[in-house]
Amino acid sequence: VPSSPPPPTSAGGDGVDERAARVGMVGGGQLARMTHRAAIDLGVELHVLTPSPDDPAAAAGASFHAGAPDDLEAMLAFGRAVDVVTLDHELVPTAGLDAVRDAGTPVHPAPAALRFAQDKLHARRGFAELDLPVPAFTAVDTPEEVERFAADHGWPVVLKARAGGYDGRGVEVVHDRDAAAQVLAHPGAWLVEANVAIQTEIAVVLARGPDGATVVYPVVETVQRDGICIELVMPARIAEPLQQQARTLADQIAQAIDAVGILAVELFVTDDQTLVINEVATRPHNSGHATIEGSVTSQFSNHLRAVLGWPLGLTAMRAPVAATVNLLGADQPVDPRTRLPLALRDPRLHVHLYGKDWRPGRKLGHVTVLGDHPDEALAAARLGAARLTAVTPP
Ligand SMILES: Nc1ncnc2c1ncn2[C@@H]1O[C@H](COP(=O)(O)OP(=O)(O)OP(=O)(O)O)[C@@H](O)[C@H]1O
Ligand SMILES: [Mg+2]
Repeated sequence: VPSSPPPPTSAGGDGVDERAARVGMVGGGQLARMTHRAAIDLGVELHVLTPSPDDPAAAAGASFHAGAPDDLEAMLAFGRAVDVVTLDHELVPTAGLDAVRDAGTPVHPAPAALRFAQDKLHARRGFAELDLPVPAFTAVDTPEEVERFAADHGWPVVLKARAGGYDGRGVEVVHDRDAAAQVLAHPGAWLVEANVAIQTEIAVVLARGPDGATVVYPVVETVQRDGICIELVMPARIAEPLQQQARTLADQIAQAIDAVGILAVELFVTDDQTLVINEVATRPHNSGHATIEGSVTSQFSNHLRAVLGWPLGLTAMRAPVAATVNLLGADQPVDPRTRLPLALRDPRLHVHLYGKDWRPGRKLGHVTVLGDHPDEALAAARLGAARLTAVTPP
């Protein structure tokens, strides 16, 4: 008896489920959770490869595959279960992604693009070679090398871990050789760069499909405290020509690295009104959270559409301004879930809780307010955030 061929994975079959596109996201944090929300609207199945069923995306109902990204067998099995593989974080060894792709499942972004987000030295070198504006930088191993760099560029300098840093971890401003020695005593490879006189930090979020089709969101202004993003204003309060330059620069980067999916480019506006590239992320990004309510198409929806090779959605705004404030864990245990009745007294407040337990400084969620004026939208978002997280709520 001849055996019947297996049903095709993304078309045909006998049930609705057989027809749903299946996107596999490596990682199950809040970015995957918000991607899952967008997937539900599109009737797309989101699968996540993440260690625990309690991780934010799995807890919210994305199809859970237990595993870590450095487990080659888990990666290969995950690739077989979906139509395309993408990521919600950068800490994914490219060997596993290469293996998934070689076994026949497309991976977006491609490992070569991902490297620009994983390795800050690779990115700095690549962008410098393209004549794109980056801070002065060099790889360093010893305090003497840092001192020589500072002799040319002045103290303080910024030491950065080549890989693995996030939320400002792995970024140290050092004022002298002894401080540099202390940082370099930590394991891992480091680079040093000039301390940029930053007037404003901005980010450009864009979505790009495998065919190169690209849509760019309005420039976002980002505010960081202690290296961690605390709030966003879209559009950024910077001159229009500078916004245009930033969008063009991000588009150039997307083409150069052949990014597919969301690309976020973090930039500094310097005191003398020039742009300097900070870093890139080849996935949905914190600076794009205001697009959920603020834009016609959210970054999460456009990420799915891009990695599936589908047409991209409009990036126009639904209101003149969107302000987002991150919910960071307070010094004492405060669970924002217990504060909802208080925060929701402001009917404009859009709340996103990530289902994570409290830890000091941990990103537990974010709130967004749309409005006509940045100051007013920001004030409302800040009040909502304080009501959700402050030890003594206002
Ligand atoms: N060369 C520099 N000069 C001045 N400030 C800098 C420089 N590099 C980084 N910073 C500051 O440190 C912050 C964090 O740096 P970076 O974005 O490289 O770190 P990260 O931990 O990878 O970030 P993220 O929080 O986006 O994951 C920047 O947003 C900026 O405020
Ligand atoms: Mg950053």
